[in-house]
Amino acid sequence: MAVRKLFIPKDVFYGWGAVEALRNWPGKRAFIVTDRTMVRQGHVEKVEKLLREAGYQSDVYSDVEPEPSRETIQGGARRGVEFRPDVIVGLGGGSCIDAGKVVRLFYEHPQLMGLSWTELGQQARQVKLGHKASYVAIPTTSGTGSEATPVAILSNQESSPPVKVRVLNMGNLPDMAICDAQFPFTMPPHVTADTGFDALVHAIECFIVNRPTEIVDALAIKAFQTVYRWLPRAVHDGQDREARERVHTAATMAGIAACNGSTGLVHDMAHQIGGAFHIAHGRSNALAFDAALSYYLPKAGAKFLEAAEAIGLRPKDEADGAVRLLGALRELRREIGIPLTMNEAGISEKEYMDLIEVMATNARTLALRPSQASHDEMRSLFLKAWSGAPL
Ligand SMILES: [Fe+2]
Repeated sequence: MAVRKLFIPKDVFYGWGAVEALRNWPGKRAFIVTDRTMVRQGHVEKVEKLLREAGYQSDVYSDVEPEPSRETIQGGARRGVEFRPDVIVGLGGGSCIDAGKVVRLFYEHPQLMGLSWTELGQQARQVKLGHKASYVAIPTTSGTGSEATPVAILSNQESSPPVKVRVLNMGNLPDMAICDAQFPFTMPPHVTADTGFDALVHAIECFIVNRPTEIVDALAIKAFQTVYRWLPRAVHDGQDREARERVHTAATMAGIAACNGSTGLVHDMAHQIGGAFHIAHGRSNALAFDAALSYYLPKAGAKFLEAAEAIGLRPKDEADGAVRLLGALRELRREIGIPLTMNEAGISEKEYMDLIEVMATNARTLALRPSQASHDEMRSLFLKAWSGAPL
């Protein structure tokens, strides 16, 4: 067996009331990066109160928008420079946690703020992080897994169509991840569905795309089983504490798995769809799902079979496993109210077809790793995503 290193946040606290761990986190000045919904829902006040009781001074930057722009992040970093925090807290969904990562990057390395997107992508990887502030991530949605990964996704609005840009630095991996199921209680059903499906995609995509590795596969398959079983309950009854806790913890497990494996074509396509049509990330994944996974069928039959068995299906062989697995996941999407295709999602056919060529190009060139599909293959996957991929 080859030697491997497992990348995880230094401290992971999970379970009901895990946020209390903040009291013992070393520091004196905490800068909270968040959005207005978190302020309105009382999450920011709760965290600030806790920090105050622990002897911290705190400041809040609550301007993060979905798909955060460079301007927003730079605004946060400038506030950070004035406040001089020794802890930065990303509080919210994936956008807030990603924004917090890049706010710290710019706070510690302000020279990166003036770079082009390409230069930023290259140079952000190389700098050391953590000499001014530690980074604490508190997810309030159960899906992105950003609390357990070193990647931040920003939106380049200057591009046409707008594209998602990844900012990667292993030092972005949070020093502490707090996965407290008290926070996702305020998520409305459609956000629970979209973000929960994102967690499921991290798990299943990581499991199917990567070479088998014991620890990563174990995290991925357990997270997949858990989200598959408990997400419908969390969507239909947001006050179901057990369902909320199960899905919230599974989302972090899937994030750790994806951090140590990788996502694949589902995410490559979803980033283009989400950027071009302003569709929430989890939903974009759901729309790309059948088409992208169809690409892996010929090569990963055994993994499809194993995943099908993990959720209680009894396929007779690998091909049957793939059919049943994708069928079960289509039923899950129906059950939680997510459309299956771009057509069903109400996107203009002309607009979609006009953008296929550029989305196919960007899906390959903007992927974190060398693309697994050729340009022609990618184009045909986007075509399949319009009306659904035949198995
Ligand atoms: Fe994702």
